[in-house]
Amino acid sequence: MTEPGHVPIVRLAPAKLNLTLSIGPRRSDGYHDLHSIMVPLGIADRLSVARAQGLPDSLHVAGGDGPHAAAPDDLVLRAFATARRAVGRAADAFPLAARLEKRIPIAAGLGGGSSDAAAAIDAALEAWGAADAVTARDRVAIAMSIGSDVPFFLVGGPVLVEGRGDRLTPLRVPLGGPVGVLVVTPAVGVSTPEAFRRFDAGGVASPADPHATRLTSEHLAAELRAGLRGEDLVARAGVLATANDLVTAAAAIVPALRAFRRTVARLLGRPVGQSGSGPTLWALYPSLGEAEAAAAELARCAASGELEAPGERPPRIHATTIAGPDTGRIDA
Ligand code: C5P
Repeated sequence: MTEPGHVPIVRLAPAKLNLTLSIGPRRSDGYHDLHSIMVPLGIADRLSVARAQGLPDSLHVAGGDGPHAAAPDDLVLRAFATARRAVGRAADAFPLAARLEKRIPIAAGLGGGSSDAAAAIDAALEAWGAADAVTARDRVAIAMSIGSDVPFFLVGGPVLVEGRGDRLTPLRVPLGGPVGVLVVTPAVGVSTPEAFRRFDAGGVASPADPHATRLTSEHLAAELRAGLRGEDLVARAGVLATANDLVTAAAAIVPALRAFRRTVARLLGRPVGQSGSGPTLWALYPSLGEAEAAAAELARCAASGELEAPGERPPRIHATTIAGPDTGRIDA
């Protein structure tokens, strides 16, 4: 038998999209109760974890902003440390050397860092042979201590996310063929805490009708639970695109986002929604092929100047699909 940790454990860490994001009032702990339908996408980072030669844990990042060694406060390294504390003496939680290939745009509303952290928790526990030593509830607590979006990635597949991000109800994947998704990420940062601060400030930040977002989100959750067909999800894109309470806040931080979203919607001839606090925008298609054709056309418009995007670099444009529950796990 091979010694634990010598065969690398590999995890795909998928991006997420918020199809809806309803935000309740600020709680006494400073967070907000959410009601959000989150789905994993086919775009994923790849995390590989093995036993380190010495101390401490290490993380090498490839892709994204170029190869570099991660800072100690990186979410993956924090996930290792928190998982190690949770394991305690139940297993030999030896130091880990990790390699992360970034494909998900960073700080984009796609949950890349949170997904990497969830993959790191899972991979670390498996490397240490401690997967059974930590209950599902403890895993959620470890994930939550890293960030509000992390627990979602422990589930796989579409999820109704409530509370601060820790109440998780798995929903069924839309029925029929995979739903195509076009995501476009302009090269501007939107800080999530800042977006929530703007939301709290009200006025410009509050949606026209706060109850409408919540009702749309509840309705979609009920429909997915009952088994919604992919084509029917795509048909609901118009109402879903209006069901994100952070749209106004994101546009208050990056005013050019408003015009950008309008132009993308006009060029695609489709409703365009925002994921999380942005700046990533999405459009839904009945198939991957249609999303790919639209992505190629949008990339052409960005190159020709017909689509002017905020930011120093051209926007990143991907065609992908809503992923099922098995995406977070692959064999080494
Ligand atoms: O938990 P995390 O550090 O990822 O959250 C980032 C920021 O998003 C928090 O500082 C808070 O401002 C906001 N947030 C919130 N309510 C949530 C989740 C996040 O207010 N449920």
